[in-house]
Amino acid sequence: MDKIVIKGGQALHGEVQASGAKNAALPILASALLADGTSTYRNVPALADVATMLKVLRTMGCDAERDSETTDVCRVGVNGHITPEAPYDLVKTMRASVLVLGPLVARFGRARVSMPGGCAIGARPIDQHLKGLKALGADIHLTEGYVEATAKQLKGGTVNFDVITVTGTENVMMAAVLAQGRTLMENCAREPEVEELAKVLNKMGARIEGAGTSSITIEGVDGLKPVEHAILPDRIEAGTLLVAAAISGGDVLVRRVVPEHMDALVEKLREAGCTITTEGSGLRCKAPQRLDAVNITTTEHPGFPTDMQAQLMALMSVSQGTSVISENIFENRFMHVPELHRLGADITIQGPTAVVKGVKGLSGAPVMATDLRASASLILAGLRAEGRTDVSRVYHLDRGYERLERKLSALGADIRREKA
Ligand code: EPZ
Repeated sequence: MDKIVIKGGQALHGEVQASGAKNAALPILASALLADGTSTYRNVPALADVATMLKVLRTMGCDAERDSETTDVCRVGVNGHITPEAPYDLVKTMRASVLVLGPLVARFGRARVSMPGGCAIGARPIDQHLKGLKALGADIHLTEGYVEATAKQLKGGTVNFDVITVTGTENVMMAAVLAQGRTLMENCAREPEVEELAKVLNKMGARIEGAGTSSITIEGVDGLKPVEHAILPDRIEAGTLLVAAAISGGDVLVRRVVPEHMDALVEKLREAGCTITTEGSGLRCKAPQRLDAVNITTTEHPGFPTDMQAQLMALMSVSQGTSVISENIFENRFMHVPELHRLGADITIQGPTAVVKGVKGLSGAPVMATDLRASASLILAGLRAEGRTDVSRVYHLDRGYERLERKLSALGADIRREKA
């Protein structure tokens, strides 16, 4: 298991490029199942979660590979001989594997996908995914920890989500595109990644309207064709890089982003005292040595993203004043707090709220990553902490960041990866 070693205190300067979006790549790779033939995707980030999704697709009988270790191109070849099953040993390592459920039922009439189980940040049930598939006529049985879904032919219907769910919206959308007739989905997730998936499905021949809003209408079609597509930039990785500039008192241009996908984060960074400017398809963050505390409340897009909460908490831990951070999406997404305490942060948890009293400085120490965004939070804190910080269990980080330490090192951070 690797660890990341950081010597804090360097202000970051320079330019860095965001990679393709993990949370767009995962559903889009799964959507290849909806068409016969080979789909080609560019700007696919080299992440552990992407490798897992490719493995899940290969397990079913697809040809699913990255062109080579050094490219951002992945191809998924699908033929008629697919075993529509996603095994527990893969799904338990990445819950987003459940995204094959909708495509499999729609295209092959059946699916056997392991229930994902809980994860570090919460129970994360998939009841809404199943509610949506049932509304389209699928028979759903839960046996031996697996979801068994069957449908001779899905039929369009009305799906009213009780909870706004990103992958739930994506799963049901992918099922509905091949259903007979019209599907109306209400209370949908509005994340850019949902919109990106709909764009790809429409390029394949689907007829989806309203993606990116809470109401989506889909006219079912008889079949889809393979697609070529470049994945949109990762707004969470880009946001993490902006926070790296902010916490180090630096000046960094993050290139190849979609600024309008990052309004809620940019607004908070500006409120804290950063100067954020748009330069072409990039965002520049220039920060003073110490920022002002701001309050954060995570909500569904276009609100403040839960995937940036841990990173902002690291920033607030060294800001001037007190910040109240409310996490409304996941019930257990404060596991970075005890580790930030080890670096000298002053944070008190009260249920879904963390009260962060900004301290003058942090001091480096060995800390342990517990989940993907917590890993990023600890690395950001290490950039600021006096002395050496060792972040262990960075396999969590590698699930969602493409060699983050190399990008930060190129911006002047004293950071390296070591065998733990
Ligand atoms: C997606 O997860 C993202 N993952 C997550 O990113 C992100 O944090 C999350 O959306 C929220 O934005 C991918 O897109 C692959 P949800 P997802 O379904 O779809 C509850 C990261 O760091 N819920 O929107 O699994 C659920 O428990 C990851 O990149 C139900 O109750 O999240 C949660 O409280 C972490 N029933 C809330 O809804 C359901 O059927 C939102 O979950 C589904 C969800």
